[in-house]
Amino acid sequence: MASSTASNPLETKSALNRKNPLLDKWSVEQAADLYGIKNWGAGYFDISPSGDVMVNPQGKPGHPSTSLREIVDGLRERGWDMPVLLRFEDILASRLRLINESFAKAISDYGYKGKFRGVYPIKVNQQQQVVEEVTTFGKQFHHGLEAGSKAELLTAMSYLDDPEALLICNGYKDAEFINLALSARRLGIQCVIVIETMVELPLIIERSKALGIEPIIGVRLKLSSSGSGHWKSSGGDRSAFGLSTHQIIQAIDELRRADMLHCLRLMHYHLGSQVPNIRDVRNSVVEAARTYAGLVKEGAPMGFLDLGGGLAVDYDGSATNFASSCNYTIGEYARDLVEVVMTILDEDGLEHPTLITESGRATVAYYSVLIFNVLDVSRFAPSSKLPDLPDDAHDYSKHIHHASKSLTRKNMQEVFHDTLYYRDEIRELFKYGKVGIRERGVVEGIFWTTTQRIAEMLKDEKYVPDEFEGLNVAIADTYHSNLSVFQSLPDIWAIDQLFPVMPIHRLNEAPTRQAQIADITCDCDGKIDRFIDLQDVKSTLTLHELEDDKDYYLGTFLVGAYQETLGDLHNLLGDTHVASVRVDEDGKFEIRSEIEGDSIADVLEYVEYDPKEVASRFRRRAEKAVRDDKISSRERKQIMEIYLRNLNGYTYYQS
Ligand SMILES: Cc1ncc(COP(=O)(O)O)c(C=O)c1O
Repeated sequence: MASSTASNPLETKSALNRKNPLLDKWSVEQAADLYGIKNWGAGYFDISPSGDVMVNPQGKPGHPSTSLREIVDGLRERGWDMPVLLRFEDILASRLRLINESFAKAISDYGYKGKFRGVYPIKVNQQQQVVEEVTTFGKQFHHGLEAGSKAELLTAMSYLDDPEALLICNGYKDAEFINLALSARRLGIQCVIVIETMVELPLIIERSKALGIEPIIGVRLKLSSSGSGHWKSSGGDRSAFGLSTHQIIQAIDELRRADMLHCLRLMHYHLGSQVPNIRDVRNSVVEAARTYAGLVKEGAPMGFLDLGGGLAVDYDGSATNFASSCNYTIGEYARDLVEVVMTILDEDGLEHPTLITESGRATVAYYSVLIFNVLDVSRFAPSSKLPDLPDDAHDYSKHIHHASKSLTRKNMQEVFHDTLYYRDEIRELFKYGKVGIRERGVVEGIFWTTTQRIAEMLKDEKYVPDEFEGLNVAIADTYHSNLSVFQSLPDIWAIDQLFPVMPIHRLNEAPTRQAQIADITCDCDGKIDRFIDLQDVKSTLTLHELEDDKDYYLGTFLVGAYQETLGDLHNLLGDTHVASVRVDEDGKFEIRSEIEGDSIADVLEYVEYDPKEVASRFRRRAEKAVRDDKISSRERKQIMEIYLRNLNGYTYYQS
């Protein structure tokens, strides 16, 4: 047992509260480094000198920006509770411009003879606002849409009214899907039916002859190259969709027999979403361009080469080929695609096709920010002061107390072993009824206080023994926060995706706590315990101490892609409020549209309850309680008011 009587930090001034000269010098620049905002913010997000996260929707220095904290205050004044999803229309516009201008520049720099036509895949964020914005703002670039189902196609047919824009139909198609796509042709929409599986081809031929409408046909190539990262299985020989080269030849022969080879105009492939490595992008386009050239040589008129999605977002800001990052810019992506296609087609003297990309994530990820408030903090070491032991405490309790008091930098390993040992012994004794709950509680408190003290000491040590690895995580605080990971950030739970998370204010103050975030579902997976880092993935996030009676807001950034409609109703926590925000020339924000989040009645309806029936069942129950003299009629009135208020209220924590 450790018995050093050297200076005892627990009895003198706690090192936790000791003045740390670094904290005195804290600056917003340090906050920017800590949270990496300049790396992943892509110019849209930064920190003001007063410590607020600022959004600059144009993404350009010198353009107006506004404080997220002020937007949240404005929403609260209007009676909104958290969590809230903020959408910035101008960011979406800026992304569309960036993608289109990057390709335009690459085309002009290389002297490529074809055009660029982007299409936005509706599945990435199907919200009406997004599709409307893409088709309205994207019109100047003839930016089109990609539909992967009948529902998406119906939407696209109603929103896309630019005859020069493309409407690409991917996904598994039945006769009605094909009828719809052919009808779109009649209306002058450049609608391309992409053959995903061989069974679709006879259906397309039959439907087109029956309706007397010539389709624009595309084939989806199953690449033999595959990317890396979370979504790599979308590409490669084993991918679910697309035709092998063998099947492509069959399709050509079948179209020729049906006298429809002249309808084959497009070749498509999709390597997978979020392709972090530019080498994979390059490898795949080489294979695709060769196949495209082969199709032309087979006699198909072609003209369009669709390079699919995959343009990645640098979520962690590391600019590497890590799954949450990417080692290239949009400019490099555009240049590589243009250059490879041009070089390969020039070898055979073939015409340069119109290049299409289906970038979804890179178009919408930056557009939305989820803001939530922290409700409460759980700490493992409730106090930095050692609790007193009762005189009749068990010997083991006295030993752990003594060991803890003797803690110094020199003996910390020994003290750690001792406290761990006695903590476990006391737990055993508790199981056999030899010590009571209060004594066990005191011993657990001593253990965590000691562990916390050791973790503090380790911060200054050059060498950290293996057994202390992960100690920081073990003692991290839990910040209970007003959100549902399953509803708002499903990819964190489902595929361990990383998103930048950080406070949106108080960034001029040094954050001092290591924390993980727990949501308000009662599911142990409802947490955020992996955070972005330049070198690695962090297990804790550095946050500020909560201040009494003051809100503390965190933001999860870059959540515009895939999160909204993939979210589910775990614990019946529904859609959050959504505010669409615009920033004017003076940096003032305007709330352009407000979409109220689900009420409890709404989510009950989703799971097939009739809220009126639910309420009347409860009303009958309350009435019976009056009849049985359990409550008075006045109490019934009060109970019914509470019940109905909640039924129509927000599903999240309301302050
Ligand atoms: C066929 C197709 N195109 C485009 C996309 C969009 O990909 P991303 O969001 O990576 O741009 C997807 C999504 O996986 C897809 O399946």
